[in-house]
Amino acid sequence: MEQSNPVGRQFKNDYPLKRADTCSGMKAGQLQYELDAMISVFVEQNPTTYLEVGCRYGDTFYDVMTSLPKGSFGCAVDLPNSYWGGDTEDYLKETCEELKAMGYRIELILGNSLDQETIDKVKSLGPFDIALLDGDHRYEGIKGDFEAYSPLCNLVAFHDIVGHGQRHSEGIYVEVPRFWSEIKHTNCVEIIEEGSKMGIGIWTKQDQ
Ligand SMILES: C[S@@+](CC[C@H](N)C(=O)[O-])C[C@H]1O[C@@H](n2cnc3c(N)ncnc32)[C@H](O)[C@@H]1O
Repeated sequence: MEQSNPVGRQFKNDYPLKRADTCSGMKAGQLQYELDAMISVFVEQNPTTYLEVGCRYGDTFYDVMTSLPKGSFGCAVDLPNSYWGGDTEDYLKETCEELKAMGYRIELILGNSLDQETIDKVKSLGPFDIALLDGDHRYEGIKGDFEAYSPLCNLVAFHDIVGHGQRHSEGIYVEVPRFWSEIKHTNCVEIIEEGSKMGIGIWTKQDQ
């Protein structure tokens, strides 16, 4: 189906819905339509390398990886028990093991994505065709992730581009919309289901 988006480009969402449940069995972190549309835009690039920063249980990581050809490489970065997270380390490890058993090449980095040590490890594993930044949603967090990881990636997706007001705890706000409004350009894609308080923005290096 054709979907217009406020930034300007059109994308074709013909990616079939495939998972009613998350692999962790927990509440999905994404709206199904937005997730499927993001994957649809991703697969147009014929990617074989994927970076996800902020994976929680690994549900989206699993869905994106299993949309890529077997043998593709995925790098998962997460700091369990941090903002917008919880005690998810064992689930994420299980997800990674399941993907490896299916024939994917997987690296799991447990650490703060903003630390130089993590950035250096990810750099040594890059570059990446596609990425999703979904970790620290505070302004300095998402800005730091974008500055560290976008040079390694052709296409960078952001979750929660309409997430104004969603709090993790007192005084901690989703500030992705503010950062997104600063970097979006006419070839970016916005995927926002009607009434969504999340939304996904996809930034591309090309034709800036
Ligand atoms: C919104 S959840 C990710 C949801 C996941 N992408 C999905 O769609 O299922 C955010 C995750 O990022 C982690 N996180 C928060 N700040 C982080 C940081 N600075 N570095 C790495 N991970 C971080 C949290 O612990 C949590 O697991």
